[in-house]
Order: sequence, then structure tokens, then C-alpha cells
Amino acid sequence: MDSLFTPYLVGGIFSALVVACSFSFLRRPSLGHIPVVGYSSLLASYWFGKGLEVDHDRFVQEGYDKYKSGVFKVANLTHWIVCLRRNHVEFVARAPEDLLSAGQAAENLLKIDYTFGLKISDDYHVSLVQSTLTRNLSVLYGGLRDEIVAACNEYFNAKHDEWKSISVVRVTLQIASRASNRIFVGLPLCRDPDWLDLNINIPHAIVEETRILRFFPSFMLPIAAKFFTNLSGRTSRGVALLGPVIKERLQHMEAEGTNWSDKPNDFLQWCLDTKQDTSLTSLTRRMILINFGGIHTTSGVFSQALLNLAANPRHAQTLRDEVEIVVSKHGWTREALSKMRKVDSFLKETLRFGGISLLGPLRQAMSDISLSDGAFIPRGTLLAFPAYAIHHDGAMYENPDVFEPFRFVDMQHGESEGSGHQMVTLSPGLLTFGLGKHACPGRFFAATVLKTMLAHVVLSYDVRRGSDESVPSTLRVGDAVVTNPLAKVMIRERVN
Ligand code: HEM
Repeated sequence: MDSLFTPYLVGGIFSALVVACSFSFLRRPSLGHIPVVGYSSLLASYWFGKGLEVDHDRFVQEGYDKYKSGVFKVANLTHWIVCLRRNHVEFVARAPEDLLSAGQAAENLLKIDYTFGLKISDDYHVSLVQSTLTRNLSVLYGGLRDEIVAACNEYFNAKHDEWKSISVVRVTLQIASRASNRIFVGLPLCRDPDWLDLNINIPHAIVEETRILRFFPSFMLPIAAKFFTNLSGRTSRGVALLGPVIKERLQHMEAEGTNWSDKPNDFLQWCLDTKQDTSLTSLTRRMILINFGGIHTTSGVFSQALLNLAANPRHAQTLRDEVEIVVSKHGWTREALSKMRKVDSFLKETLRFGGISLLGPLRQAMSDISLSDGAFIPRGTLLAFPAYAIHHDGAMYENPDVFEPFRFVDMQHGESEGSGHQMVTLSPGLLTFGLGKHACPGRFFAATVLKTMLAHVVLSYDVRRGSDESVPSTLRVGDAVVTNPLAKVMIRERVN
């Protein structure tokens, strides 16, 4: 029975894929008038997918150098991405959602409905990140720092009398996940290895799943998602871990109303207070989505910062001097962080020098658009800035290919907190946190976590390069800039 059934099943899936691909390719907006760099057709980019992953940075840089005053397009397996120029930044930052949509672009690439089980319009958590999380950062700071110190102790596990080699990606992911989850779900779940493991590994699964889902037209997605995603598996694993915490809190809310002694002050509770999620499933999925947005981004930047520190140990003392002076005056507080200009600049330079993506931020044209320089962008087109190339443009930065950790300090001179050249400030020259209304709402939290981690590391540890100096610090995987999983640093506890 099975052996009879199998060829039909395989044949069915294969036919579905062929139909899906045909529909997908026919649906694409017509972009023949826009010059191409790299693979000249989506199909070619698909067949040479490995080459695309490896060479994307070369293609984008080539387009950036060649089309100085116009747009160009690069293939991205299933979509063309039209790369804009720096002088389009203002337009994109101000464009309303019904002209250029960040949400639709994210949906197009991530298929959030099917990979996370949440509607793209159901995004109340974005305003919680933007307002409630940012507003609570000072109050929550003590717990956040405690978690960072405890996580560094556990995962670095360094001794003062011997250098220890650590795998940068693995360790920074654990530390950033713990720190973030202390604020997302609180103790003790933020230390639960299963919860951390689930959230650390989900992005990899989502990338694999969306690679396939993106070939299907929307009417086929509900069926395709059943075969090609593991949404139900990760949801049930998440509910098993988070469900008991949610249930306990709901019991408190029922018995004691909106306030009770020891009421948790964390992201999970803020979500519960809004009463917008009506099931364990949807709230769990939302917490998984928040982790997805927050963990790999923050740990990616932290891992690059650690490698930059290891490659330039002489800068550690400069940072240490600043942290010691500031902390002796202001203690470990958010106010102290705002005075750590060198720490801030070091991290901002890390965002510029490596960052998280070659392209970004992404938008989808919701109607036909004529750009100021006359380029016609048909409805449905995906647009992005060649962020990495802009960050390494000599017209924007002196010595753009040199890591100069304190290049932003002079620019910050005389500024008050929150203005000008600090890492959270959005600017046309640094697109790592995006642009305009949709710019990353979590950047104030991310900056708080990153500055605390770096300040703690320079005070408590010596860091130097590992034995693998020839290993590149970062790799390009498609559009993403990721820290090399093989990268290692040597670490030793400092004796004060
Ligand atoms: C270094 C760390 C981070 C980087 C580099 C980063 C980067 C970004 C970028 C580039 C965007 C898209 C912006 C745009 O389209 O203009 C974004 C959006 C977003 N980020 Fe972050 N992010 C980081 C950390 C976080 C954290 C910690 C959180 C949550 C606590 C978070 C939550 C979000 C959310 C919810 C959005 C969607 C905003 C919207 O749709 O309006 N991010 N982030």
C-alpha cells in the first residue's frame, strides 16, 4: 500500500512545486528596464543558489560602484530586489505604509502567517517594544545587569590564571538570549535551557522553511505550509514551557485584578495586560516572534564586538578607563550607560563595519512609483538599500575599511544623551537599525544590553584572538552578515 502510495505523493508534491514556481514567476512585477548585477534571471539565481549565497556581497558592491546615480537590481532566489541610492533615504523614511510597506516586505520574505502563525496586522507587540519596554529600561536595569553578569560567569566560565578558548557565536547567543529573556519572560524561564534552545534554533528553521514557501503563490501557502513548516512542533514545545507560566499569571489576574504584590514587570506580563492574545498558543507564538527579532540581532552584534575587541586589545584599556570612571560616579545605571561614549562608539562602529545585512531596510512598493531621478518602480517591487556598501563608502566615512572604534566619539562631543551620533540614532549613513516609522523599536533595549555586556566584559575579562587568526570574523550568507561559527577568542578573568 505504502509503496503504491509513495510515487503518487512524490509526483503530487513535484507537480505542486512546478505549478507554484510557474505562478510565482508569472506574478513578478516587470523590472526589465532596471539594470541587473549578478545572475541575469531569477531562475539562474535559483539553480546557482549556492553561488548567490557566496557572491551576493560582490554583486551588490559591483552594482553600487557601477550605478552611481541610479538603481539596480539583484536576484534573491524568488524575488528581484531593487537597490536604491543614498539620496532615496529621505523618501523611504517618510513614505507612508500604503506607498512603501515594511510589513508587506517582511511578510513576503518571512511568511509570518505560516512560519509564526500570526497575522502581520496583529502586531500590538511592536508598540509594546517601542513604548513600554523602552520606558521601563531604567527600572529593569538592575535585573538585566545581574543576568548579564550571571550569564557571563556561566558561559565564559573563565579563570584568572589561564586563557580559555571560547566559541564566540555559541557563547554570545546564550548570553544575549538569557539577558533578553530576563526582560521578556523573567526568572526562572529566562534560564531554562529548553526555552533558550528553542528560541536560539528557530531562526535557522524559519530561514529553511521560507526558502521553500517563497516559491508558492499565496493561494497555495496554507497547503504548502502544512508540508514544509514545523509551526505546530515549535508551538507545542513553546506552550509546554511557557504555558504553565502564563496560566499562573492568568490565575493571579483573575483573583487579584490588575495589580498584586510581586506582579512581574516583563514583556510577557505587558502582553497579558493588553488582553489581546486570547490563547496560550498565540501568546507563546508572539513571545517566540519577539525572541526571533531580538536574540540573533543582538548576539550577532555582541559577537562581532567581542572579535573586534580581541583583534584590537589596546582599545580594551581605553574602554575600561571610561567604564571605571563613569561607574564610580553613577553606579551601574542607565544614566551611567548614557555617559559611556567610547563604549557606544565602539558598538556603533561594529554596526557599521560588519552589521547584520548587506541589504536593508526592506520595503515593498504598494503602488507604482516614480522616484525623484525618474526611475519607475512597479507595484509589488521589493526595494532595499545596499546598506553594507553605503557603510563602507569613502564618501561617507574616512578609511571606511578600517575598524576605528572611536570614530563617533568626536562627533558626539558636546551632545546630550539621545542626540546626534549615538548608536541608537538613525541616520542615512548607518542603516543597521532601519529607517523612519518602522526603524527598529527594540534598538534602545538592544543598545542597553550591548553596552552593559561590553562594559562588563572589558572590566572583568581580558580578551585576545584565538588560535584561528586566519578564520574570517564574518561570513555572508545570502543577504545576511553573520559571525563565523568557527570564530574563537581567548578569554581570561581579570584580577582587580
Ligand atoms: C542589535 C540589535 C538589533 C538590530 C541590528 C535590529 C535591526 C532591525 C531592523 C533593521 C529592523 C527593520 C527596520 C526597518 O524596516 O526600517 C528591525 C525591526 C524590528 N525590530 Fe529590531 N534589531 C535589533 C534588536 C531588536 C530587539 C532587541 C527587539 C525586541 C526587543 C527588536 C524588535 C524589532 C521589531 C518588533 C521590529 C519591527 C518593527 C516594525 O515592524 O515597525 N529588534 N530591527
